[in-house]
Amino acid sequence: MSRKMKNRVLEQLKIERIAVEGKCVGHHEGKVVFVSNVAPGDVVDARVTRGRSSFMEAEAIAIHEHSSDRVTPFCSHFGTCGGCKWQHISYELQMAYKRQQVVDQFQRIAKVPLPAVMPIIGAQNTRYYRNKLDFTFSNNRWLTREEIDSGEDFERNALGFHIPKRFDKIVDIQHCYLQGSLSNDIRNGLREFALSENLSFYDIIRQTGLLRNLIIRTAQEDQVMVIVQFGEDDPDGIEKTMHFLKEGFPGITSLLYIVNLKKNETFQDLDVQVYAGKDHIEETMEGLRFKIGPKSFYQTNSQQAYRLYQVAREFAGLTGEETVYDLYTGTGTIANFVAGNAQQVIGIEYVEPAIADAKENALLNGIDNTLFYAGDMKEVLNESFVSQHQKPDVIITDPPRAGMHEEVVEMLLRLEAPKIVYVSCNPGTQARDVALLSAKYHVSRIQPVDMFPQTYHVENVVLLEIKSNDDQ
Ligand SMILES: C[S@@+](CC[C@H](N)C(=O)[O-])C[C@H]1O[C@@H](n2cnc3c(N)ncnc32)[C@H](O)[C@@H]1O
Repeated sequence: MSRKMKNRVLEQLKIERIAVEGKCVGHHEGKVVFVSNVAPGDVVDARVTRGRSSFMEAEAIAIHEHSSDRVTPFCSHFGTCGGCKWQHISYELQMAYKRQQVVDQFQRIAKVPLPAVMPIIGAQNTRYYRNKLDFTFSNNRWLTREEIDSGEDFERNALGFHIPKRFDKIVDIQHCYLQGSLSNDIRNGLREFALSENLSFYDIIRQTGLLRNLIIRTAQEDQVMVIVQFGEDDPDGIEKTMHFLKEGFPGITSLLYIVNLKKNETFQDLDVQVYAGKDHIEETMEGLRFKIGPKSFYQTNSQQAYRLYQVAREFAGLTGEETVYDLYTGTGTIANFVAGNAQQVIGIEYVEPAIADAKENALLNGIDNTLFYAGDMKEVLNESFVSQHQKPDVIITDPPRAGMHEEVVEMLLRLEAPKIVYVSCNPGTQARDVALLSAKYHVSRIQPVDMFPQTYHVENVVLLEIKSNDDQ
């Protein structure tokens, strides 16, 4: 960036519209300016944080005119915590903006003929909708400007969420609107207990401290899993903590802990100890049961995941005769969900424990027409794999944010399945892949689904149907 621009204040910048990733757009001297944490219609002073020849990024430092789209954020942590960045916009507008993001990305990137994008499927619960939250213990609590300016001493231990872009600072959460009252009680109760017992909170710089991380997962029918990660192998401290949780919160149905002496918080490679209750919780969907262990992935908004899978199943239009490939199957939830409507479903995913969960979930539900394979998609999905199984009539694909590898897209083009149902949490990479697939497919339906109210994230399902030879 031209150094001259950095920190320059752009005065009276009119915020025009929402762009990608929740940022809004204004213009200054003909250049696009991306500004975060504002709303279309605001007029702000914005300090430039980054600049390139064609655009700038800036943060609002003063608001002169408030947009009529603004509503009062309900969370006291809004603006500090990075969790719910769109609380200042009404839910109706959030939904409209999310749909518009899909329209914009497809028009700008896919550049193919499109049907009308359907109105987004909104969430009934716009608060307390997450089934998993991950809190961090830290001895380096984020202090507000007022706290610093007061010159007083404050408690520096904290239990909460990372400040955006700061790995070492944690905002101490008093109430989180993403998970219900038991979750809030457990987090606040454990923090109070740890402070009163002088248990040490983790120091990320020195990599010391007993209490490191707290994960709370819930399922319908009152099942609650709590996982505590300890940064030191201190049997007394661990026993004290776990005993407190067991006695204080009988609603916990799966109480687990992990001693994690590694540099990072991931625990896929570590042993999980069961302190009390079961080693898993169970989610249900349309009579199916899904076993969720501490290392298993499950969509974090269960109610909206159900809506999403219903859309995918409807787009697939199954009659019971089809061979379906479910690519990037995770723990096989979509595969098992559509199995009753297909002849067979084949799921592929590269995380081996997820594939083990997928198989277990099929067994648990008496589903005998699903097959699961672990491996990298571009290696597994090849001609010999297809010749060993039936050619797919329908492909459901739900890749990570980066979208599909080009070689996978090329394989899909060679496979020529009549239908591809493309589920994505990133309409930008989805639109890029749709452009490549347009060599043989046309887009016939586009349905956004809101999985994450109060954030700018949007999930999108696209139905691609093979073109007739005349159209190709
Ligand atoms: C968005 S999730 C899909 C979740 C799943 N469909 C569900 O609804 O629970 C994407 C999945 O792709 C898997 N994945 C990412 N890269 C992959 C690759 N190169 N090959 C195979 N699977 C991959 C991830 O492990 C993750 O489980």
